[in-house]
Amino acid sequence: MIQDRKIALVTGANKGIGLAIVKQLSELGHQVFLGARSLQKGLEAKADLSNPSNVHVIELDVADEDSIRMAFQEIVSKYDQLDILVNNAGINYDTWQNATNADLNNVRETLETNLFGAWCMIQNFLPLMKKKGFGRIVNVSSGSGAINDMGAGTPGYSISKAALNILTIQFSQLNQEKDVLINSVCPGWVRTDMGGSMASRSPAQGAETIVWAALLPKGGPTGKFFRDKKEISF
Ligand SMILES: NC(=O)c1ccc[n+]([C@@H]2O[C@H](COP(=O)([O-])OP(=O)(O)OC[C@H]3O[C@@H](n4cnc5c(N)ncnc54)[C@H](OP(=O)(O)O)[C@@H]3O)[C@@H](O)[C@H]2O)c1
Repeated sequence: MIQDRKIALVTGANKGIGLAIVKQLSELGHQVFLGARSLQKGLEAKADLSNPSNVHVIELDVADEDSIRMAFQEIVSKYDQLDILVNNAGINYDTWQNATNADLNNVRETLETNLFGAWCMIQNFLPLMKKKGFGRIVNVSSGSGAINDMGAGTPGYSISKAALNILTIQFSQLNQEKDVLINSVCPGWVRTDMGGSMASRSPAQGAETIVWAALLPKGGPTGKFFRDKKEISF
């Protein structure tokens, strides 16, 4: 048993990078809620883990505020505490459209999960962190959302991740006085259903910097954007 055991929640964790984050945090000895919008898929993902004893599956659709509130109640009744929130759930790498021809309903749907989902999660769980005076929030972003390096592709996805980065900045500015650190991380190009089979990194490699940001020590950076444990431009 580790000395400083944390309670963590990872959204969209039934596969891909999210599942790799759950594996890494739980194998370090932390208690981890594996968030999945399909409870069945979450249970199947847990059943495949070689060391599932620290993992709790929780039904959580971040695009549904009622689902977020129910997950909050479940975590409060079990631990009355959340130390680490990883906003990993993400959708819709929309390579087929650009800003001119974009289907705005598709863009709205993307924002609902990638931006508003993370926003609502932080609104619900941050008070729990502030009450304890400790919290680590990691928003899983993407280089596609870096304004400094912005192209014209994937408009819904890129705008959702740029806006998610702004959320990181705004929430970090609002929470300077407690040991609550909020950062964005780009996992790199990762072999998942979203990233495709040609991507250069495994899910475990993609999860590495996210786990690092989730376990930053007191006085660590906040309101920043990282890849490979190094700060990058928003
Ligand atoms: N892969 C890459 O190269 C790459 C690069 C940069 C950033 N990222 C970011 O990394 C994160 C994880 O991506 P990934 O590559 O692991 O993608 P993935 O394999 O497609 O997994 C996405 C996960 O998000 C879940 N999800 C989608 N909508 C949700 C919702 N409304 N509520 C809760 N969960 C939801 C999915 O659940 P279902 O199984 O139910 O669909 C799935 O578990 C995303 O934020 C993505 O934008 C990925």
